[in-house]
Amino acid sequence: MTSAGLTAKRGGPLRGRVRAPGDKSISHRALILGALAQGVTEIEGLLEGDDVLRTAQAMRSFGAGVEQLGPGRWRVEGRGGFSEPSDVIDCGNAGTGVRLIMGAMAGFDFAATFTGDESLRGRPMRRVLGPLGQMGATWTGRSNGRLPLTLQGGNLAYLSYRLPEPSAQVKSAVLLAGLQAPAGAQVIEPEATRDHTERMLRAFGAVVQVEDRPDGRYITLAGGQKLTGTKVRVPGDPSSAAFPLVAALVTPGSEVTVEGVLLNELRTGLFTTLQEMGGDLVISNVREEGGEQVGDVTARHSPLKGVSVPPERAPAMIDEYPILAVAAAFAEGSTIMRGIGEMRVKESDRIALMAHGLTACGVGVEEEPEGLIVIGSVRGNHPVAGGARVTTKGDHRIAMSHLIMGLASDEPVSVDEPGMIATSFPGFEPLMRGLGADIS
Ligand code: S3P
Repeated sequence: MTSAGLTAKRGGPLRGRVRAPGDKSISHRALILGALAQGVTEIEGLLEGDDVLRTAQAMRSFGAGVEQLGPGRWRVEGRGGFSEPSDVIDCGNAGTGVRLIMGAMAGFDFAATFTGDESLRGRPMRRVLGPLGQMGATWTGRSNGRLPLTLQGGNLAYLSYRLPEPSAQVKSAVLLAGLQAPAGAQVIEPEATRDHTERMLRAFGAVVQVEDRPDGRYITLAGGQKLTGTKVRVPGDPSSAAFPLVAALVTPGSEVTVEGVLLNELRTGLFTTLQEMGGDLVISNVREEGGEQVGDVTARHSPLKGVSVPPERAPAMIDEYPILAVAAAFAEGSTIMRGIGEMRVKESDRIALMAHGLTACGVGVEEEPEGLIVIGSVRGNHPVAGGARVTTKGDHRIAMSHLIMGLASDEPVSVDEPGMIATSFPGFEPLMRGLGADIS
C-alpha cells in the first residue's frame, strides 16, 4: 500500500461520463455462490478491488477453480461444495468477504482459520458466530470473537433467526449456512437490508421465499437445495458512483454522468436524500441487467440544503453517510443523520472519523452515539475551509470522502493511506482526474 498521501485541490468544473466499478456486494456473492455451485459460473464486470480478490483467492482455497479471463471477466468452476483449505484464509480488509464465507463453510465438516488486516481483526464477528453457533458450528478465536479465529463446521440444525441489527452480511451468512443445513434456515429482518444474496441464490436455481409481515421480512430457504453454475453480470456500484456524483454536486459548473449504476431500492437511499437536499440528480436509461435494475445517473452542480435523513433509510445507504456528510458540509443549514450506530463498526468508526475530518476542515459537527449532525453554511456562505491532512485509519470510504471535500473547499485536503481506496474503487484517482479533478 502507498504510504504517501493524496491531496485534492479546488479546480475547474468536473465534466464527463464514466462507469462505476462493479458492485462490491454482488461481486463477493458471485464468487462464493459460483464456488458452492456445481458447474461453471461466468462473471462479467467483477469488481477487481482487493476485497473481492481476497474472496476469489479464498474460493480457490476451498477447492473451486477461479480464473480471470479478461478485465472484469472471471470463470468459477464450482465443485458443488467446499473442501478443507490447507492454509489460513486471509480476507484482508473485507468484512463482507469473511462473514459470508464463514456462513458458506459452516455446513461442511472441517475447520478453517480466518484472519484479516488490522481493521478487520478489530471488527465484531460474534454477530455471525452467534447464529452459526446456534446452528451447531463451533469456533475459537480472540477475545470478543475477533479474528484470527477457527471455525469448525459440521451438520447444521435449522435456525429461524431474527436479526438484532440490520445487517445484510449476517442475513447472508445465515442463509448460506442454511443452504447446507438439511432443514434449511429462516431469517427475519425487522428492517429490510440489501437483498443480493436472495436474488442471486434464485439465479443459481435455489427457491427462496420472501414474505413481508407486520413484524418484518421473513426469508425462508428450504434445506438440501443444490446450486447450478450460471452467468452473472455485475452492475456498477452505487456506493462508488456516489463519489463522482457528489463531487459534481458540490463543484461549480460540473455535470457528471455515471453509467450502469445498480438501482436496487435497498441501495439507493443516498440518491433519494441528495434529491431531497435539492441536488440535480437525474436517473435515465433505466433497464434490467442480470435480475437487477440499472441506469445512468447524472449530477449537476446544485445549491444544496440541509435535511433530516429518516433513520429508517439507514440500511439503504449505510456505506454512503461519509460522502453524504461531505455534501452536507456544502449545504445551507444542518443535516441530521440519526440511527446510524452501525457506522461505528465498519472498516473504521466512521462517525468518529467523519466528525474529526470535518472539524479539521472547519465544518461544524455534532457527534452523537448513533448519529452525526453536520452544520452547513448560513445563507450560501459556505464554511468548508479545508487545509487539513486527514487520518483515515485505512478506511477507503473515509479517504475518498475527504478527497471529494478537498475538490470544493478553500484549501486543499490530504489523506493518508490512499492505497486502501483500491479495496473498493481501484482506479478512483485516474477516473476523477479524467473528469477534471485536481487530485495528486
Ligand atoms: C454489505 C452489507 C453492509 C455494508 C457492506 C456490504 C453486504 O454491511 O456496510 O459494505 O454486501 O452485505 P452490514 O451487513 O454489516 O450492514
